[in-house]
Formats: sequence, structure tokens, C-alpha cells
Amino acid sequence: MATTEKSTPNVDAIALLKADHRTVEGLFAKYEAATTRAQKRTLATQICTELTIHTWLEEDIFYQACKGVVDAALHDEAHVEHDAAKLMIAEIARDSGEDRFHDAKVMVLKEEIAHHVGEEESAGVGLFAQAKKGGLDLAELGARMAEEKKRLTADYKVNGLPMPDATPLVATSIGQLAPA
Ligand SMILES: [Fe+2]
Ligand SMILES: [Fe+2]
Repeated sequence: MATTEKSTPNVDAIALLKADHRTVEGLFAKYEAATTRAQKRTLATQICTELTIHTWLEEDIFYQACKGVVDAALHDEAHVEHDAAKLMIAEIARDSGEDRFHDAKVMVLKEEIAHHVGEEESAGVGLFAQAKKGGLDLAELGARMAEEKKRLTADYKVNGLPMPDATPLVATSIGQLAPA
């Protein structure tokens, strides 16, 4: 198997995506253990950044390659789960950590992501397993995603995260007006 050692090491696409999953799981665990608002704010920003990059890599590169290769319903579900996660990411990224629902939002995002990751990684039947069985060029996809990840990481550092035009979520907006 050829390697492109100069700037892009040979990266298996599924290994790259699974490594991202483990990184985010670690950040959620740190968030749960954090004791100060500042620590939580920093971790929430890292979670939002990691997930924004990861969902983009999947949607723009990996899921595109999966079209027609994996089960169509599972593919659609993965996209919709990403969209749901983006709304929660935007809610978390927009608030300064003062919102009394901040912890709840991060925990709901954690649960959404755990469910989604389960569907991607499920042995034998998940999206990744189907992609592998379908014969995708995982080395080529991995190299492209590694490059795109570098680019996005640098871009978001300078320009901040892109935010969808989400209207505030109703329950938590009402909740903010009510006494804690
Ligand atoms: Fe995903
Ligand atoms: Fe993923």
C-alpha cells in the first residue's frame, strides 16, 4: 500500500472517524467532571469545534462516498441526526455558559452523539461496516479527510464556528424566563 509521507500520512477513513469519536467522548467525560464554569465553557467550545469539523468531514466526504453503497435509510438517518446535533451545537456555542440549561444541553448532545456513533460503529451492520463491505477506498477518503480537517481546524481558529440560523429552542427559551 502506497504512503504519501510528505504532508498527508496514509490514514484509514474509518480509523480517523473513530478516533474523532473517542476524542469527543473524552471531552464529554471531562465536561462531566469539570467543576468550574470556565472549565465547562472551554470544554463545551472544544466539543462544539470537534463535532462541527467531524460532521463536515463525514457529510462532505465520507457520507458522499457511501451513497449507493450503504443502506439508504441508514444514510438518511445519519444526515438527519447530524442536523439535530447541529441545532444543539449552535445552542451550546451561542451561550456564554450562564444559561441554567447549559449542562443539560451538553448532556443531551452527548446522548444524541452516543446514539449516532453507535449506529455508525455497530459491528457488522453499522454505516462504517457497510462502507467497508462495499469496498470504498478508505485510504483515499482518509487522506482527503485528514487534509480537510487541517484546513477546517485552521479556519475555525481564525473565523470561529459557522452557526446555522437556528431559532431558539422553545422549551429552553421559556425556561430562561422562569425562575431557576
Ligand atoms: Fe456522523
Ligand atoms: Fe461520526
